[in-house]
Amino acid sequence: MNTIKKVAVGSDHAGFEYKNRLAAYLRERGYEVTDVGCDSEESCHYPIFAHRLCRLIQDGKCDAGILICGTGIGMSIAANKHKGIRAAACSEAFSARLTREHNDANVLCLGARVIDYPTAQSLSELFLTTEFVGGKHATRVAMLADIENGTFKE
Ligand code: RB5
Repeated sequence: MNTIKKVAVGSDHAGFEYKNRLAAYLRERGYEVTDVGCDSEESCHYPIFAHRLCRLIQDGKCDAGILICGTGIGMSIAANKHKGIRAAACSEAFSARLTREHNDANVLCLGARVIDYPTAQSLSELFLTTEFVGGKHATRVAMLADIENGTFKE
């Protein structure tokens, strides 16, 4: 069962081309895609787009998101500052799958200067179609929320 249906995509200038290609591909695959920008290859600030995308997930308007910058790292740092967001920068399939299965990640971050477009597309597809396994991993994900809320106890 694929529980992710509504997907937000966002990028800075470095990820602009990949983001547009990925949005078109995901729409073809039947996903409801919201593009939060950017809108050109003109230099811009990645936190703006990470913030827009994370708000959509926090508000329940999207199930998951894909953020693309040069390395995927700036986007992941920005996204992980948002409550309820679990973002992972991935450049290979094992991590893209495991971050869904074990971390229940809701944002995938990709580096357009790190991986080629076909890899970005296949990692996105893998991320969006892999389910969280729950169990002991749900306990750990709940601990992440406790850390975020300042209620964590060892
Ligand atoms: C932009 O040059 C670059 O710093 C950005 O795309 C990203 O890689 C930041 O983490």
